[in-house]
Amino acid sequence: MDPVPARIGVAGDWHGNTGWAVRAIRRICAQLPASGPRIVLHLGDFGIWPDRGGTEFLARADAALAQAGAQLWFIDGNHEDHGMLARLTPGPDGRSPVTARIWHLPRGYRWQWHGRRWLALGGAVSLDRAERTAGRDWFEEEEISAAQAAAAVASGRADVLVSHDCPAGIKHAFTAVPPAWSRADVARSERHRERLAGVAAAVRPAVLLHGHLHEYYQRTVDLGWGPVTVTGLDCDNAQQGNWGILDAASLRWERLHGQLLASLARNLARRAGPGAGQHAARRR
Ligand SMILES: [Fe+2]
Repeated sequence: MDPVPARIGVAGDWHGNTGWAVRAIRRICAQLPASGPRIVLHLGDFGIWPDRGGTEFLARADAALAQAGAQLWFIDGNHEDHGMLARLTPGPDGRSPVTARIWHLPRGYRWQWHGRRWLALGGAVSLDRAERTAGRDWFEEEEISAAQAAAAVASGRADVLVSHDCPAGIKHAFTAVPPAWSRADVARSERHRERLAGVAAAVRPAVLLHGHLHEYYQRTVDLGWGPVTVTGLDCDNAQQGNWGILDAASLRWERLHGQLLASLARNLARRAGPGAGQHAARRR
């Protein structure tokens, strides 16, 4: 394990968007300390695909990380090639190298920074599964299995849960569901959120970071074991809230998408209204 970072970058869904990823890596790393490890923690739907676009995405993201003296750790989302991920070989500390500077955190991977216990648990349901082809751009391994959930629970408490999906019990009021989403997949997603909520209830994190919903928000919720600070990050091409800078010791955000938190709060207040969140129903 590398030395402990003072601050880290945290980013949401990039979907293999090379230009966005390269710019985000540069902007994030410009705000990380020059000394100590520079780490970008990615919350899934990163962009693991075997085609030419996927290969170029990894190569250019790796080059941007090299230029910044940084590394990127990601959990898997639903929109990744899970066949490729399954063929990775974990290193001695359990992380799986993808390139020289990009690491996959397998489901259930744990680590500690500043005495805080972190748990990585990727996976989510593709609500657009009806438009996808099994084995090509959809994989049943997208879901956290019962065995994976049980193993994550058996490993004990965690202070920070890093997931792609959002656990059940954290309410969202999305106004538009695309007609292409099947009822079966919506129901499958709800069951998956319940499974993740079961893990959360057992490990009792105080901080939860997730992606997948393509909606930036921060909220403190009580899911039955005390307050949990939840942050959901938006996706590539979002005007704000796709990435932030987190103090790894205090677990407080310093910036979100380059904005100081005070100005971000003002902007969110302006945006809030009945239409807020409609854009979120896309490639989840
Ligand atoms: Fe997703």
